Amino acid sequence: ATTAVRGRFLDIQNTVAQAREIHDQVRYVEDGLLISQNGKIQWFGSWQEGQQHLPVGVEVQHYPEQLIVPGFIDTHIHFPQTEMVGAYGEQLLEWLNTYTFPTELQFSDKAYADQIAQFFVQELLKNGTTTALVFCTVHTESVDALFEAAGQHQMRLIAGKVMMDRHAPEGLCDTPDSAYADSKALIEKWHGKGRNLYAITPRFAPTSTPEQLAKAGQLKAEYPDVYVHTHLSENKNEIAWVKDLFPEQQGYLDVYHHFGLTGSHSVFAHCVHLEDAEWDCMHQTDSAIAFCPTSNLFLGSGLFPLNKTWEKQVKVGLGTDIGAGTSFNQLQTLNEAYKVQQLQGDKLSAFESLYHATLGGAKALSLDDKLGNFNLGKEADFVVLDLKATALQALRQQRAKGIEDALFALMTMGDDRNIHATYIFGQKAYVQN
Ligand code: GUN
Ligand code: FE
Repeated sequence: ATTAVRGRFLDIQNTVAQAREIHDQVRYVEDGLLISQNGKIQWFGSWQEGQQHLPVGVEVQHYPEQLIVPGFIDTHIHFPQTEMVGAYGEQLLEWLNTYTFPTELQFSDKAYADQIAQFFVQELLKNGTTTALVFCTVHTESVDALFEAAGQHQMRLIAGKVMMDRHAPEGLCDTPDSAYADSKALIEKWHGKGRNLYAITPRFAPTSTPEQLAKAGQLKAEYPDVYVHTHLSENKNEIAWVKDLFPEQQGYLDVYHHFGLTGSHSVFAHCVHLEDAEWDCMHQTDSAIAFCPTSNLFLGSGLFPLNKTWEKQVKVGLGTDIGAGTSFNQLQTLNEAYKVQQLQGDKLSAFESLYHATLGGAKALSLDDKLGNFNLGKEADFVVLDLKATALQALRQQRAKGIEDALFALMTMGDDRNIHATYIFGQKAYVQN
């Protein structure tokens, strides 16, 4: 199938990782055309030049007022926590015991998991998120439910079953052997099927025994192109607990590193309080960070030093971390990210923000050969943004001094009202009514 979309396009070109100066990597096409064929970008450029490449009979979908950007990438989110956003009053460890574990117990029921998975995928689309790296629960049913729901839209998702064999309710615990066997069966069933990819998902060091982490490492060694997804250095009490539980290891990250869980396909959520040696290990192993500003603020975890990712050359993407995070929306996430950097005397520009939400996220997931901008051959996942979804936004946008200012205002005030349409693999999967 062929799709042709005309409008205002903005993306970030493949950039040298060292350069925080994103300006010269910005591609802005005021009247552009994107043609996709079987889900991939076949032609992209100006409308002027592009018209002659239009196959006969293909209807052009024209968005004269909107702004079209690559689909947003969420590098850390929990689908079973969709229903628990805004759980009051606790920091990480108490929040897990009080709110999270009881919520996740429900996902042994496939019908329930299906219902929430449908809602979750719809919510991603409604927020312009076209790819996500997702935590399920310990139950294999939850993974089936999510991949089945995503498959209905051919959405590129990475997900996995939580591995957790201690410090949690019995109904949420597996064992080293069952976690290994169940994860292996899920990899065989889902990894590389359609656009689905699998992530080995130990919840975090405190809820896995050394025996289970060893099994996770064994699995990773057997399937090198499968992802690893976990949490790291989010909260001070959590870090102290890990040091207690694993006295032989040099620190929190060293626990994962010791068991073979670092690498180019490993994503560590949070990393708010990394030590220098850990930054170096992240760089040397080509591991990635998911920066989760709304969650870090909501749980009072701390301020993530984004400038360090440039200084230390560590890959970073944005994560909503629903349900410790408070919004599915990447515009709202960037709004909070900006404030987190301001509190540290650092600045996050609009173009850098767009980079993190798109190409930077793709790099963090080692998917920049497939996602992140409008380069030929990449997968046609994109979002049509309405810059004037409210009267206040319309007033502000009238005064915008160019595209960078317009984008920054959108990121400061925007939310799901600004998502006009979401395209997945060349097909319109959502349109705001
Ligand atoms: N650390 C371990 N589990 C979780 C979780 O579910 N959410 C967050 N934010 N941190 C965690
Ligand atoms: Fe999380």
